[in-house]
Amino acid sequence: MATNITWHPSLSRRERFETRGQRGMTIWFTGLSASGKSTVATALEQHLLHLGLASYRLDGDNVRFGLNKDLGFSEKDRNENIRRIAEVAKLFADSSTIALTSFISPYRADRLVARELHAAQQGDDEPLPFIEVYVEVPIEVAEQRDPKGLYKKARAGEIKEFTGISAPYEAPENPEIVIKTHEKSVEECVAQIVEWLQAKGYIN
Ligand code: PPS
Repeated sequence: MATNITWHPSLSRRERFETRGQRGMTIWFTGLSASGKSTVATALEQHLLHLGLASYRLDGDNVRFGLNKDLGFSEKDRNENIRRIAEVAKLFADSSTIALTSFISPYRADRLVARELHAAQQGDDEPLPFIEVYVEVPIEVAEQRDPKGLYKKARAGEIKEFTGISAPYEAPENPEIVIKTHEKSVEECVAQIVEWLQAKGYIN
């Protein structure tokens, strides 16, 4: 970290919440490639917008075109990928927006870093809610879907360090929500998440 820098206090989260009438939070999707993270997160974003709630989705492939275009898929690069995303999501959430992130985020330790970043309190503000959604599908299902043909390439050795094939995926142990896209429709998965958010009082 640089030296000679000073933290500037900003408006409290409570002030933003009271003005905008919306609580900021991060909904963190994690799961294998082709598990349905982006599909469900996009449908959820649409649903939240229809409810009049500002939300914004950060997506694995998309963010790698810009902010994280210097990063590949080694363990170290994935750690940095997730660290940056966690910081960005926290900023969105802090601004009273519902940040949706759809990244494989295969390492438990990285997801914990993201969670702890949100939990860290500043001033008298409440910690930012961090809701981990595990998009659980058997790898056979993901591999059969293979919408981008990546599993096929990974099996052929054309992609190195491919999650689930030649790189690890560490499933969450205590996610807030588990959705199974091979058993439920996209709409049902969205409804499951929305009901959870309402039951917790995070949205009306
Ligand atoms: S990570 O592990 O969280 O840093 O990955 P993420 O930023 O979500 O990027 C995953 C998308 O990158 C494509 N891709 C790969 N995925 C996994 N392993 C390897 N080696 C790889 N190479 C490219 C792939 O399209 C992933 O998108 P999704 O939507 O998950 O299928």
